[in-house]
Amino acid sequence: MASNLQVLLDRRPTDKVSPANFRVVETPVPTPGPGEVLVRHSFLSLDPYMRGRLNDAKSYAKPQEIGAVMGGGTVGIVEASNNPRFHPGDAVVGMGGWQRYSVSDGAMLRTVDAKAVPIQAYLGALGMPGVTAWYGLNRIIEPKAGETVLVSAATGAVGSVVGQLAKLAGARTVGIAGGPDKCAYAVKELGYDACVDHKSPSFADELKAALPNGIDGLFENVGGEPFRQALDRLNDFSRVAVCGLIASYEGALTALPDMRIFLVKRFKMEGFIVSDHMDLWPKAIGELASLAAAKKLTWRETIRDGLENTPQALIDLLQGQNFGKMLVKVD
Ligand SMILES: NC(=O)c1ccc[n+]([C@@H]2O[C@H](COP(=O)([O-])OP(=O)(O)OC[C@H]3O[C@@H](n4cnc5c(N)ncnc54)[C@H](OP(=O)(O)O)[C@@H]3O)[C@@H](O)[C@H]2O)c1
Repeated sequence: MASNLQVLLDRRPTDKVSPANFRVVETPVPTPGPGEVLVRHSFLSLDPYMRGRLNDAKSYAKPQEIGAVMGGGTVGIVEASNNPRFHPGDAVVGMGGWQRYSVSDGAMLRTVDAKAVPIQAYLGALGMPGVTAWYGLNRIIEPKAGETVLVSAATGAVGSVVGQLAKLAGARTVGIAGGPDKCAYAVKELGYDACVDHKSPSFADELKAALPNGIDGLFENVGGEPFRQALDRLNDFSRVAVCGLIASYEGALTALPDMRIFLVKRFKMEGFIVSDHMDLWPKAIGELASLAAAKKLTWRETIRDGLENTPQALIDLLQGQNFGKMLVKVD
């Protein structure tokens, strides 16, 4: 008999998140009511914002409720439907959470073409992270041909798309990534002109050498010391898209340098949240899907097996153990 395996938030972390913060339970498969759809998940998306939701603190995303199924993006197949917009067998992307099955009223559910690309791409380059990259680059940085764009977490779900889009826009692209393997991939597969390993003891010197013309656009995913170093290399009138500060999600402090830098360099720094721009998602996903079809957009995934391993997958993501989009394959 099929059952619904679910991962609940059991208690909030007081320090770093651990598997003990979660509880795995087995429940009956839910029955869809009038207008509802039953989806069997194929993959769950692991995203850095989930760490913020574990705290009971005011943020752009509501805190995760204790005792409830952890929220999160999912792709899967419609198993039963009482909603005329969906049919059994449809591939769908939604917010089904950390569980094998979910029931939806269809509002947050979208059918996708799982023949064009593997279904999990709609959680990565052709989904929320891809739109994030598209928005921050095109609406905040607005790169011009010949400018230099620096991207941190350059091989991650968001960063890998930023680097490729910036290159297509004619920019010189420089990535920051953790370790020689990620840096080699950044240059060979993602087309970055250079990549600097933030774990290198001579990181600051290597970053300076990789940026002979300074930085015109900075796509910031991390914060911390690499961000501080990058601010020193900004050109006059440069643009900084503050997308994420993952280095501080488990409590490390973030700090801005001396405020005079804003005045001296006349640069713009703008934070953004992709869900504030839902009107642009169809345009962004359309463009990203066209690039993927033309083989001009590539990506990489780290796939963990089994729902019960989802908490560890989140922990590993927060420690930079992923290489590309972090996913859990649902059994
Ligand atoms: N603003 C928005 O709407 C929005 C939407 C989606 C994502 N984001 C943000 O975008 C950033 C990237 O998200 P993603 O989903 O694409 O994740 P990701 O880049 O696939 O994974 C996170 C990566 O961050 C890097 N990292 C660097 N320093 C780190 C540190 N001190 N601790 C942990 N990781 C570190 C690691 O790569 P290296 O090994 O290469 O360092 C790690 O693999 C995150 O900050 C996220 O919160 C924002």
